[in-house]
Amino acid sequence: MSKSKSNATAQRSKVTTRTLMAKKQRGEPITMLTAYDYPTALAVDRAEIDVLLVGDSLAMVVLGLENTLPVTMDDMLHHCRAVARGAKYAMRIGDMPFMSYQVSVEEAVRNAGRFLQEAGMDAVKLEGGRERADAVRAIVDTGIPVMGHLGLTPQSVHQLGGFRAQGRSAAAARRLLEDALILQEAGCFSVLFECIPSRLAGLLTQRLEVPTIGIGAGPGCDGQVLVTHDLLGLFDRFTPKFVKKYADLNDEIARALGAYRDDVAARAFPAAEHSVEMDEAEWQALLQEVGE
Ligand code: KIV
Repeated sequence: MSKSKSNATAQRSKVTTRTLMAKKQRGEPITMLTAYDYPTALAVDRAEIDVLLVGDSLAMVVLGLENTLPVTMDDMLHHCRAVARGAKYAMRIGDMPFMSYQVSVEEAVRNAGRFLQEAGMDAVKLEGGRERADAVRAIVDTGIPVMGHLGLTPQSVHQLGGFRAQGRSAAAARRLLEDALILQEAGCFSVLFECIPSRLAGLLTQRLEVPTIGIGAGPGCDGQVLVTHDLLGLFDRFTPKFVKKYADLNDEIARALGAYRDDVAARAFPAAEHSVEMDEAEWQALLQEVGE
């Protein structure tokens, strides 16, 4: 790291809900990425990304599951703890998994609290609109910041009939606007919009006082988020249209693993520089002792 870069990092202060609101007011884009483990959290923090989400997308991109529904509170807390050890400056958000906040408001508050008390998160995110307003209000009343999530809400994939864009009709768009305003009124510090038309995301961003974050929602939101495994080319089961790949690490990993396999097969690895040796006198002593 260059000297000026390390000075800049030293001067960084922790990103909070106030930082995000100030960015919206200044018209400065908010950056957000997912992380599920310690090394990725370190890398995201070093890249000076504002917000780090331990997304339930880990079900698909890390655990190899079909969708996000099977992931549990224990899974999420395990990954959040690793991320919290790596990220010092970014705001750390834990994604509340399916069935951790839908059954009752009381369970929602208790589970939200676990993200902060047991796993080092600064805030939580949950999916849904008006039907989640009571849970949002109660969590916020407990002192826990909540990010809302509207549009394509993957935990409702079966109800939505697949991973498909939302809010494309005037009626659906109006309902999204109402839901967003309800979430804001319930106390959400920010609302994330997934896979909705760009023009609609721009309108929602104008109408909301709190910052909006988009994924597949065009450039009109106050901030952008991507799943880091998509951006790095680490997840190739499918690539949504809204993903921009900034690297192809799967190719790079395949190249490195193949080179290792070939080196071992050719006895080219390990070489002298990868090995430790005994002192010559100790070696000779051993040979005498074992009669070589
Ligand atoms: O779980 C996740 O990764 C998400 C995305 C919308 C960023 O919620």
